[in-house]
Amino acid sequence: MTRFKAVIFDLDGVITDTARFHYLAWKRLADAEGAPFDEAFNEQLKGVDRMGSLELILARAPRSYTSAQKLVLADAKNRHYQELVATMGPDDLLPGALRALQEVRGAGLKIGLASVSKNAFTVLDRLGIRDRFDDVVDAAAIANSKPHPEIFLTAASHLGVDPADCLGVEDAAAGVASIKDAGMVAVGVGDPAVLARADYIIPSMQRFRLADYG
Ligand code: BG6
Ligand code: MG
Repeated sequence: MTRFKAVIFDLDGVITDTARFHYLAWKRLADAEGAPFDEAFNEQLKGVDRMGSLELILARAPRSYTSAQKLVLADAKNRHYQELVATMGPDDLLPGALRALQEVRGAGLKIGLASVSKNAFTVLDRLGIRDRFDDVVDAAAIANSKPHPEIFLTAASHLGVDPADCLGVEDAAAGVASIKDAGMVAVGVGDPAVLARADYIIPSMQRFRLADYG
């Protein structure tokens, strides 16, 4: 039925639409700082950790910033993001996400989550799905953000599964790179032009089917 022993999911943009909340919070910050910001540029931020994203945004601003100023900005963005997350509940799973988790569990595979977000556990709790994962690797557990493979390799190690036996699911180019460089098979969720390195691309989680991936 499937050759995989585990599936490792990204969170933001795969399980729930928090990618939209990150976008809105970064957009407000970028506008206030006079840095150009649109959906296309935002694609480069997906899967990138908070300070890394801020650096990319501020590199396009008309002035420079001290480290202390950057921390203030990152904190303000995070508070805005957390206000948006506080409105979430179990109805905010992306269509198809719960079915995918059920399908993977039903097939007897392990389920991991790999998110560079420091808010990953809060989001899982708002969605009421923390206990659906055998292991969660968040920002606190890794030294290198995506596209580095550390986060997916750590998840595979925690699950006790060889990376070659893992399927990774991602909505970000940086995330797909992380999966591929970990030696896993990648399913990209979204735009084929953005997710070119993925082995399989689906337009949304509604199209996730384990049997389609070998
Ligand atoms: C990733 C998102 O999952 O987490 C990025 O794709 C985000 O957009 C990153 O910047 C860090 O999130 P947080 O919650 O730690 O600021
Ligand atoms: Mg994502």
